[in-house]
Amino acid sequence: MSARSCLVIILAAGEGTRMKSMRSKVLHEVGSRAMIGHVLNLAASIGAERSAVVVGPDASELRALVARTDAKAAVFEQTERLGTAHAVLAAAPAFAEPVDDVLILYGDTPLVTPETLAKVRAALAGGAEVAVLGFEAADPTGYGRLVEVGGQLVAIREHRDADDRERRIRFCNSGVMGFAGAKIADLLGRIGNANAKGEYYLTDAVEIANGDGGKVMALKGDELEFLGVNNRAELARAERIFQERRRAAAMEGGATLIAPETVFFAYDTRVGADVTIEPNVFFGPGVVVEDGAEIRAFSHLEGCRVGPNAQVGPYARLRPGADLAENAKVGNFVEIKKSTVERGAKVNHLTYIGDARVGAGANVGAGTITCNYDGFGKFKTDIGAGAFIGSNSALVAPVKIGDGAIVGAGSVMTHDVPADALAVARGHPLVREGWAAAFRKRRQREKDEAGKPK
Ligand code: UD1
Ligand code: CA
Repeated sequence: MSARSCLVIILAAGEGTRMKSMRSKVLHEVGSRAMIGHVLNLAASIGAERSAVVVGPDASELRALVARTDAKAAVFEQTERLGTAHAVLAAAPAFAEPVDDVLILYGDTPLVTPETLAKVRAALAGGAEVAVLGFEAADPTGYGRLVEVGGQLVAIREHRDADDRERRIRFCNSGVMGFAGAKIADLLGRIGNANAKGEYYLTDAVEIANGDGGKVMALKGDELEFLGVNNRAELARAERIFQERRRAAAMEGGATLIAPETVFFAYDTRVGADVTIEPNVFFGPGVVVEDGAEIRAFSHLEGCRVGPNAQVGPYARLRPGADLAENAKVGNFVEIKKSTVERGAKVNHLTYIGDARVGAGANVGAGTITCNYDGFGKFKTDIGAGAFIGSNSALVAPVKIGDGAIVGAGSVMTHDVPADALAVARGHPLVREGWAAAFRKRRQREKDEAGKPK
């Protein structure tokens, strides 16, 4: 990473009206993380020492999320929405302190990569006063056009202000811009608002720097990276691009995805090598899948670890705190929450395991429920190594089943069971030979007699 210091300013004062949402637009999620979280993370990943976020009025939820994501990030309020230059100037105290590079990012543009930003920083390191990331737009309508003369970027013309010749340019401003820290305050201070929208355009800094004889460069990136999200359809498109990247990375890392287009990752999902993921699997945040594990179809995982060669699903739900050790098996219609399933243990059918430990090699029979909640508090169940829990048992926590113990099927276990003991807690069987036949015969006779005419 460059030894130059870096400040990232993220513009997030946009109103979310086109999202039809009560929430700030940049709080909407891509890959289970708020868009603004992606951008803050991008700033951290390029080694920016400081981040500043420009928010609009009434942004308490947004401020809280920024504080949670990056406690050191400064937050500035743009009280009136007077344009992108005006927004950056709201963060002027951040660049009052000396800094080499200032990068401007948008909070609603979550797919920009560190590699692309490295190009901007390289241009600044090479002496550019302003460096702008552009892309060849499939449809340039609405974007600012990058006007170049012999390798120098001489102007950015906003669509509304462009003439016909300029509108034919397909090379467009992504919005990502870099400024030399020593110049930004001066350049921005000279931007006016004499344009079609009556706004202070950040993009005007390009012509001003040119007038000073400064070096100004346009760099090229991929249009997909610069997708800005203004409505729910664009949010879904950003999600799709994000997922395609994640699926490719998982496969690159040695995972088999039988139908990659049906597997959904979170921003932080970690998938090892020789992992197989069957179709229709969803990963929420905080999942680690270790080498050789198998995630079968229609499973939902969040906040959990799947150990080496463990098997999950089909139709399993692993909730936060589920920790499956090596070779553990969690089968169909099983839900695991805040529990460890130790090495080689099996929980194969129709079971709820919450606030529990399932010891190594234990077998939990179909339909077992850990009754962990009494309506007020949560209680623990401890199942020892090699224990066998018969089907349809209810383990009423707090309860401890010793190593190697057997719990008979259908038990409601309210007491601890010592190691290697048998515990059965159910009614005694009652068998009466011939009773059913006699019963039917009697009832039929009663019915026949009642139906006879008197
Ligand atoms: C901007 C660029 C345009 C570029 C396009 C890329 C300018 C003048 N134009 O146009 O060249 O092609 O982005 O998508 O910069 N914002 C604030 N406060 C403001 C105004 C904007 O925070 O007062 C934020 C918005 O929330 C948004 C970003 O700045 O994240 C861009 O603003 P927007 O109004 O969408 O600019 P565009 O017209 O799309
Ligand atoms: Ca925009």
